[in-house]
Amino acid sequence: MFRCALGGSTLLLAVLSLGAAGCGDDGGGAGADDPEPGSTGEPTASSDGPAATTDADTDTDAEDSSSGDDPGRTPTDEPPEPEEWVWDLPTGFPVPAVPEDNPMSAAKVELGRHLFYDERLSVNGTTSCASCHRQELAFTDGGAVSTGATGDQTSRGSMSLANVAYASTLGWGNPTLLSLEAHALLPLFGNDPIEMGLLDEADIVGKIADDPIYVDLFEDAYPNEAQPITLAHASGSIASFQRTLISGRSPFDRWFYDSDESAISESAKRGYNLFHVRGECFYCHFSFNFSDATYFESLPELTTPFHNIGLYNIDGEGAYPQGNTGVHAFTGAPEDMGRFKSPTLRNIVVTGPYMHDGSIETLPEVLEHYGAGGRTIAEGPHAGVGADNPFKDPLMVTFELQDHELVDMMAWFESLTDEEFLTNPAFSNPWE
Ligand code: HEC
Ligand code: HEC
Repeated sequence: MFRCALGGSTLLLAVLSLGAAGCGDDGGGAGADDPEPGSTGEPTASSDGPAATTDADTDTDAEDSSSGDDPGRTPTDEPPEPEEWVWDLPTGFPVPAVPEDNPMSAAKVELGRHLFYDERLSVNGTTSCASCHRQELAFTDGGAVSTGATGDQTSRGSMSLANVAYASTLGWGNPTLLSLEAHALLPLFGNDPIEMGLLDEADIVGKIADDPIYVDLFEDAYPNEAQPITLAHASGSIASFQRTLISGRSPFDRWFYDSDESAISESAKRGYNLFHVRGECFYCHFSFNFSDATYFESLPELTTPFHNIGLYNIDGEGAYPQGNTGVHAFTGAPEDMGRFKSPTLRNIVVTGPYMHDGSIETLPEVLEHYGAGGRTIAEGPHAGVGADNPFKDPLMVTFELQDHELVDMMAWFESLTDEEFLTNPAFSNPWE
């Protein structure tokens, strides 16, 4: 009964769960009754929250040997009217938090989309963001881990970018990355492993500055600037494009938010109920985005939750495989071992394999893992009983599912597939 209050910030949980989670006054999630479709509506938080941290720290190495010649426009031109950005949000979705120094505009989104899909932004012209974030896979890449431009493998799997506008932290287990603007620099410039393998601002600017398409796109997005083509503008516009990747028009949403009883099967509705009452999954996968690492404009507080869900227990003292220890890699604190972010469950049937290292192949196996309260690995270098991991989150429960209940859970997962999102031309490759 009281367990809803254990989900970290009670306030946050209360506000977020006005969305899809259903952890209401009775404190028992959706309770034994079927959750009421459409009964909760849009989360309405009371005060204006602080904007998400935004220091993109992007113009440090602006060595700028280029001429700055900028035909046509000079900084003294009349500033254009600021363009009003209108969000096209699904029912029940709150307004995303956007950094004050990088307001949304259609021109930025279009520029960011071109950059996101541009393989020229890699050391050898082979790799774009989209190489590892493919629209038809909800912007994942289908691999357990990803392969960068020069063949390096990442140690963790690509993450879905669905609703990344609402992510309170970015990455599987990074408590320090709070803005999309800052995050974009990682794949562009990171060298351990190499993802795109660029060197510095001059490198990225040099690859695109001669293309008349970019001259126009940057000028439209950043008018009246002496030097529109900069790294800060590139990362800012990629961030703006990513903020438009909103997924909330699945059959589940048509049922839950739009009260269309026929949008999903009775089996999927039972599955949604099991998600609450049997698996108690909502503790960590709550809100309209099914992730507790969620933040938006009207939320009073930004929280950065991470959890150890008992995937490993290599030495019997809680160890996760080296190089993949989650928040622990940043803090060194023993209790941070194996703590990772709860990813969104939207479009979950197309984003496998699952978990930070892609180590669970299928959704029935994910449910088996949770049912046992952790994963047991019988032999090999990772052998251990995850359920006994001393750092396992106390919100994990054990449960059993009958065969027909497994069918129901799978039907619910299926109902989260948002075909409109996976095929929306506005999110697709503009170069094709
Ligand atoms: C080589 C493959 C690869 C490329 C190229 C790549 N990514 Fe990723 N992306 C990943 C992986 C792997 C992760 C998970 C990182 C981690 O936590 O270890 C990730 C995570 C992310 C996240 C965090 C999502 C979340 O919910 O926390 C964002 C945002 C993102 N990538 C955007 C981009 C952008 C923008 C680009 C291009 C500038 C890009 N990625 C290029 C593989 C890639
Ligand atoms: C204590 C918090 C917590 C609870 C409870 C929880 N999850 Fe998770 N979930 C997480 C975290 C954290 C991850 C990522 C773990 C990792 O990669 O190490 C995750 C990952 C997943 C994934 C894989 C997502 C992906 O993109 O790879 C699925 C699917 C999932 N959970 C479903 C469920 C279901 C279904 C339940 C209930 C039976 C549940 N979760 C209960 C925190 C939780």
